[in-house]
Amino acid sequence: MSGSWWRDGVFYQIYPRSFQDSNGDGVGDLPGITARLDHLNGRDDSLGIDAIWLSPFYRSPMKDFGYDVSDYRDVDPAFGTLADFDRLLAEAHRRGIRVIVDLVPNHTSDEHPWFVESRSSTDNPRRDWYVWRAGRNGAPPNNWRSWFEGVGPAWTRDERTGEWYLHHFLPGQPDLNWWNEGVRAAMDGVMRFWLDRGVDGFRVDVAHGLVKDPRLRGNPRVRVFGRPAPRDRDLDEVHEVHRRWRRVIDEYPDRMAVGEVHVRDLRRLVRYYGRDDELQMPFNFHLLRQPWSAAGFRGVVDEWERLLPAHAWPNATLSNHDVVRHATRYGVERARVAAMLLLTLRGTPFLYYGEEIGMTNVPIPADRVVDVVGRDGERTPMQWDASPNAGFTSADPWLPVAADLGRVSVAAQRGDPTSLLSLYRRLVRVRRGSDALRRGAYRVLPSGPGVYAYERTAERERLVVVLNFTDRAQRLHLAVADTRLVLSTDPGRDAISERLTLGANEGILARAG
Ligand code: GLC
Repeated sequence: MSGSWWRDGVFYQIYPRSFQDSNGDGVGDLPGITARLDHLNGRDDSLGIDAIWLSPFYRSPMKDFGYDVSDYRDVDPAFGTLADFDRLLAEAHRRGIRVIVDLVPNHTSDEHPWFVESRSSTDNPRRDWYVWRAGRNGAPPNNWRSWFEGVGPAWTRDERTGEWYLHHFLPGQPDLNWWNEGVRAAMDGVMRFWLDRGVDGFRVDVAHGLVKDPRLRGNPRVRVFGRPAPRDRDLDEVHEVHRRWRRVIDEYPDRMAVGEVHVRDLRRLVRYYGRDDELQMPFNFHLLRQPWSAAGFRGVVDEWERLLPAHAWPNATLSNHDVVRHATRYGVERARVAAMLLLTLRGTPFLYYGEEIGMTNVPIPADRVVDVVGRDGERTPMQWDASPNAGFTSADPWLPVAADLGRVSVAAQRGDPTSLLSLYRRLVRVRRGSDALRRGAYRVLPSGPGVYAYERTAERERLVVVLNFTDRAQRLHLAVADTRLVLSTDPGRDAISERLTLGANEGILARAG
């Protein structure tokens, strides 16, 4: 069935700077990723994932480490060449791994030739590709703020013409003007360039933010949740652009896109599914924002399930390159039960590199900080083994490597059946072999406080998941007859009974009937 791979599969996000360095410059690269694909799929001891999302590897001055693109159609020399990309794609496909790439359409780098032309004069044909305005007596054109904490106004005055340009991130990341047809057509071309090369789809950066109020009216000063709505994001017209992209994607068989959509109101978030004519999925970041509580997670999942239109397919993620790793946010002792949650909910799971071994944020000394908004701790090198620099590089790594390599590395965990890596691997395999987990219905089950229980059912299969969110043992009565244990997060458990005591932070997956 068309579209089944991204519904059934498990995704894995790779931050290319930090996965594997192959040329000894301390920065990860595309040949490095290719060399590590066996970790992901193709062998008995692989994790077993089905698709990777690569954060940007395009030419970039690296002010935002690749999210400031100066050429959408080339690989930055730090990461390799287009030929390296083609090899990576072929090797991934050979192992049954699909590849989606990051599309960054909201802004370019200020070194992109489009912007260089645009800023050169007010009558340059590319002037209107970006958002330029006169200031208000020396102040920016309106009150919009950069979405990066600490940057201040979303406007910078350009000496050459005296006008201000819009940038919702760094001044080095000018926003494109999505009301301009030339911009829309150019980005279609970028998508086709990568689709023609054989990529399986896109993760679209800031997908909700492209289109801004054409009159540049300021944002309301006081906001009661969601209203009056801000005028610099989540406008109705952005859906028009998403429909256009969907038409481009649909020119190619079996491709997909998932959008980074930061919209807090779930009723507005589900609009991004359109009528199955927009991007296939918006990310649901609500799980990732939850504090660790059974009631909190249950509440978000239930609301999400209630609001999703029938054709819409959910997704789940707990970590990415923009947030503190969840083993740090929730505590490593909860990483196992978090893994069970992520891989048994209804919808496509997205893992972040290193979470399968329980990587935590690495403390970054002040003189090693490189990201403007402090996200270095969740972007440190992948921990392959206990050799110097974790097997990531032979040189000085661009960010410090963690100190806990004896326990938290692929080599330390690969052959250990009780490791977190083994648990992830088993969960992925159980999911792969289970219609109920991949495609089945979700229904919450009654449970005491601190416990989140649900069932997943398909035609001939019924699975029950019970997750203890507390660090106390919990006695419970499984109101489901004839259950057999499939998997516990506690490697010491080999059976369950109808009356059972779950250990602290324990989750179980059981088969009924
Ligand atoms: C997205 C990316 C983030 C980046 C920003 C600007 O939020 O996930 O890493 O800094 O867009 O491109």
